[in-house]
Amino acid sequence: MNTDNIELKIEEWRQRSEKSLDKWLPAEEINPAQLHKAMRYSVLNGGKRIRPILVYAAGHAVSADEAALDAPASAVEFIHAYSLIHDDLPAMDDDDLRRGKPTCHKAFTEAQAILAGDALQSLAFHTIAHGLPKTIPAEQKLDILDALAVASGSRGMAGGQAIDLESVGKSLNIAELEDMHVHKTGALIRASVKMGALCQPKIDDEKLKKLDHYAKCIGLAFQIQDDILDVTSDTETLGKTQGADIALNKPTYPSLLGLDGAREMATELHNEAHESLNIFGDNAAPLRWLADYIVKRDY
Ligand code: IPE
Ligand code: IPE
Ligand code: MG
Ligand code: MG
Ligand code: MG
Repeated sequence: MNTDNIELKIEEWRQRSEKSLDKWLPAEEINPAQLHKAMRYSVLNGGKRIRPILVYAAGHAVSADEAALDAPASAVEFIHAYSLIHDDLPAMDDDDLRRGKPTCHKAFTEAQAILAGDALQSLAFHTIAHGLPKTIPAEQKLDILDALAVASGSRGMAGGQAIDLESVGKSLNIAELEDMHVHKTGALIRASVKMGALCQPKIDDEKLKKLDHYAKCIGLAFQIQDDILDVTSDTETLGKTQGADIALNKPTYPSLLGLDGAREMATELHNEAHESLNIFGDNAAPLRWLADYIVKRDY
């Protein structure tokens, strides 16, 4: 697969995930209309859709049926959107801008934002429970559901966010910082890849392990790049307030290792991610492209 074809495929998956998200979200007219508006506002507002694309790319690497990937791809984006709504709340990062627009609690109310997050979390699991095709064995469906449940909870994203809040103003060591990033951001990225792979009923353990290591590396690299961009980019490009980490006194990779050290770490993880894909053929070309994108992206 050449670069042009990979980029076309990624764009096709991005559009496919937009359609699927729209389909699963309740219409604005349905009661309670304000809540449904808040949910749609926060999901359908132009994120990069990295996690859904990773579901499709991981499925592609193991020749899973593409139609099976729609539900887990939408589900992980619903969890991600919920995590961003809550992350921006005054009790957490207290941010006014998200994806270039007022944050959910600014556009609606704090109470509606909390509820929109809650409801998106439930919608994620409903989407998986009802959206996976019959071709996937029941046991594997449960594994897919569980992968997302664990990655979202106290041993995953929510746990990572708790560590993030506890760490404000503290100087973490590198192992502690890694632990925070692996949970708050890495867990959902890892679940995206795992769910995509589990949509292949004949997936073997070795492939699952290699894909999981790839995902662990790019998940950590993704948050390192997020921390770097918080320092080096600008609010307009990011669509969220630049400098928020420094203003909130958050421990980050640039604050611990300096910008060059953080970049070096992201590059090492990127290389390790590529190595994990060595046993895969050309079908893993989109996953390779995504590893490059994650450390090169500018927003
Ligand atoms: C931002 O995630 C929050 C982190 C976990 C670093 P993204 O950078 O994927 O945000 P969107 O979805 O593209 O807006
Ligand atoms: C957020 O990390 C991670 C989650 C939402 C789980 P950040 O707080 O760094 O994300 P941004 O920078 O606000 O997007
Ligand atoms: Mg945060
Ligand atoms: Mg934040
Ligand atoms: Mg950030």
